[in-house]
Amino acid sequence: MSLKLGDIAPDFEQDSTLGNLRFHEWLGDSWGVLFSHPADFTPVCTTELGLTAKLKDEFAKRGVKAIALSVDPAESHHRWIDDINETQQTQVNFPIIADADRKVSDLYDLIHPNASDTLTVRSLFVIDPQKKVRLTITYPASTGRNFHEILRVIDSLQLTDSHKVATPGNWQQGDDVVIVPSLKDEDEIKRRFPKGYRAVKPYLRLTPQPDR
Ligand code: BEZ
Repeated sequence: MSLKLGDIAPDFEQDSTLGNLRFHEWLGDSWGVLFSHPADFTPVCTTELGLTAKLKDEFAKRGVKAIALSVDPAESHHRWIDDINETQQTQVNFPIIADADRKVSDLYDLIHPNASDTLTVRSLFVIDPQKKVRLTITYPASTGRNFHEILRVIDSLQLTDSHKVATPGNWQQGDDVVIVPSLKDEDEIKRRFPKGYRAVKPYLRLTPQPDR
């Protein structure tokens, strides 16, 4: 069964490039990005893992740990990491799960038999510090993901967890945000949003990003 938003991300123990890894213990109190890719030594995956390595500081700033997965063994991952480091001019600085027995792939529904009955698809899960799944995306094997978009969603999740706002389409850090429709009390609105707000419609109220 596929994982839904708000579900607890299943815990597992599996081999990885760090050796045996217990997922929840490894996550600790951090946010997590768990992403699967079809296979080692494939071109799109090589660029994706390189991009993730280059965004190390951006993930760290947000308290996020990244972890990749494919159904290849750890020995293959290690050889491939050398290629990624060489070709993408970076150092892979996060673990890759070696899911050769597909234990995690089954738990997270990462093999879609109508796409391929052997390869993991490009799925990605953002997991919060309470281990809840907050974002799921699945891309086809032929399309690499945009990791700046993943950071953008994490920024939105972290902002909207601490303020009664939501972020509009294409929102970027520093843009105006919307006041959640359930917040009606004018005194509370004034207290929460001292910079004021602009009601384009009664249900569309824009306010400057509150944590800036
Ligand atoms: C890739 O990562 O480059 C890839 C993997 C499977 C199918 C097509 C491309």
